[in-house]
Amino acid sequence: MPKPSDIPAHKPVSPARRRFLRTAVVGALALGGTALYAGEAEPGHLEVVEKDVKLLGWPVSAAGLKIGQLSDLHCQSERSVVRAKRAVALLLEQKPDIVFLTGDFVSSSSHYVPACMEAIAPITSVPRGVFAVLGNHDWGGRHSGQRPAYVTRELERIGISVLRNRSVEMPGTPGVWLVGLDTCSMAAQDPETALWHVPEKAIKLLLVHEPDFADEALPGFALQFSGHSHGGQIRLPGLPPLHCPSYGQHYPEGLQQATHHLVYTTRGIGMIGPQMRFCCPPEVTVLTLYPA
Ligand SMILES: [Fe+2]
Repeated sequence: MPKPSDIPAHKPVSPARRRFLRTAVVGALALGGTALYAGEAEPGHLEVVEKDVKLLGWPVSAAGLKIGQLSDLHCQSERSVVRAKRAVALLLEQKPDIVFLTGDFVSSSSHYVPACMEAIAPITSVPRGVFAVLGNHDWGGRHSGQRPAYVTRELERIGISVLRNRSVEMPGTPGVWLVGLDTCSMAAQDPETALWHVPEKAIKLLLVHEPDFADEALPGFALQFSGHSHGGQIRLPGLPPLHCPSYGQHYPEGLQQATHHLVYTTRGIGMIGPQMRFCCPPEVTVLTLYPA
């Protein structure tokens, strides 16, 4: 048995090293806690965002029309499908008259298309119908083959009108037209074709996945509905988004005035990349329109 004098003396930790260790432990705990919150909690905190919007020429007879919007469901896991179902239920609770779905129903694979359709099917009960456009992820890349046609067919099968470079008059509101464009990220937008049958004097609501299309749009639209940016998805408190995808950088969130018309960009529901949201909760949108 060693004598006490044989045991090496314990070297005392210097105050500076103690401070460093304490800071490192607190930092690691804070980082871990933040990551846990961003990955497990915030993606499920669906926020209802309501806004009144006044538009020049909007018909008095349609004053107070409630438009619900969901975007970027990104169904790519069981969890994301559950979140999509909750978003649909929450939007239905707001009793919208009509609903716009602005793309990215799925992510990198078609596997979750059927589950996504099952999740969103209840929304078709709204009185004036549901209108959709596709997002870049619904295309699955430039060489995606049948993916956009498959997503379109499935949406139409459950009763959703998909506006791929085409327009329809809004049910119950003569003179107001819904103009839908295909995704700009794949250079698939064709406004000329979409507007072919729209009367010149119509009030035009534009549905297009990418908000920055507003920068290339010709005059004539009253209000644009978009998603795509996810609001930045991971943000720092009080700061603008750290990163948004191309075509989603100039109008990343909320109601903004573009050169010719107003743009509303929703933060959407799902996620891409790291499955995290921070300071940027998923959004269920309700815009109520009034004449200016
Ligand atoms: Fe997206």
